[in-house]
Amino acid sequence: MNGVAVGGHADASPVVTERQAAVTRRYDRMARFYDLMNGPMERGGVLERRRRMVGRADGRTLEVGVGTGRNLPFYAPGVELVATDVSARMLERARHRAAGLSIAVTLELADAQQLPYRDESFDTVVATCVFCSVPDPVRGLSELRRVVRPEGRVLLVEHVRPTNPVLGAVADVASVLTTRLMGPAMNRRTEDNVRAAGLEMLELRAEGIWREIVARP
Ligand SMILES: C[S@@+](CC[C@H](N)C(=O)[O-])C[C@H]1O[C@@H](n2cnc3c(N)ncnc32)[C@H](O)[C@@H]1O
Repeated sequence: MNGVAVGGHADASPVVTERQAAVTRRYDRMARFYDLMNGPMERGGVLERRRRMVGRADGRTLEVGVGTGRNLPFYAPGVELVATDVSARMLERARHRAAGLSIAVTLELADAQQLPYRDESFDTVVATCVFCSVPDPVRGLSELRRVVRPEGRVLLVEHVRPTNPVLGAVADVASVLTTRLMGPAMNRRTEDNVRAAGLEMLELRAEGIWREIVARP
């Protein structure tokens, strides 16, 4: 590992551990198809959101839930990047993508809910479309708060539960299926979770179900 030490969080509860194992298995299974399945979402605006947020990363940067590495092309030269995921198969795809881009990145298996890094060891922490899948998002976001420097930034792109009550209820029902079949929930209240994790939201761009959030500890 790249000069890191195991973080300070207590072990996850058995329920979270079990749910995480199921999520990890799903992403391992889905890794081969992930980019293909995500194509329409990328063209529907996610690509632009990635470019906008990831381009703001600066200094020593941690990306959690890097997946197949779709954000890698958007990091500015000079960013010192460590990128992590719980799924070895997704990480393998990210490794291929990084090789094709000749970008310097350290790829590591790590759970966002229990990051193996020292407190305040990153200038920027990035996560896109991750906290829909992490079983305990507040715990994960608290870990992001722990590892980012006090003057650093947490950059998030996430889809959230629709604010419209009817669509919100539809998302609740749909999430029963999406979490079982694929991994992500469609009804996460990420802004509330960010606050509950002790992060202060400095910027919030809301468009439909999408949120671009810049936060700090
Ligand atoms: C929907 S994909 C998003 C991948 C990538 N960030 C993107 O924008 O394309 C969610 C990713 O989060 C990862 N993941 C799920 N639970 C995680 C956890 N507890 N810690 C870190 N990564 C996790 C999954 O393995 C998967 O790669």
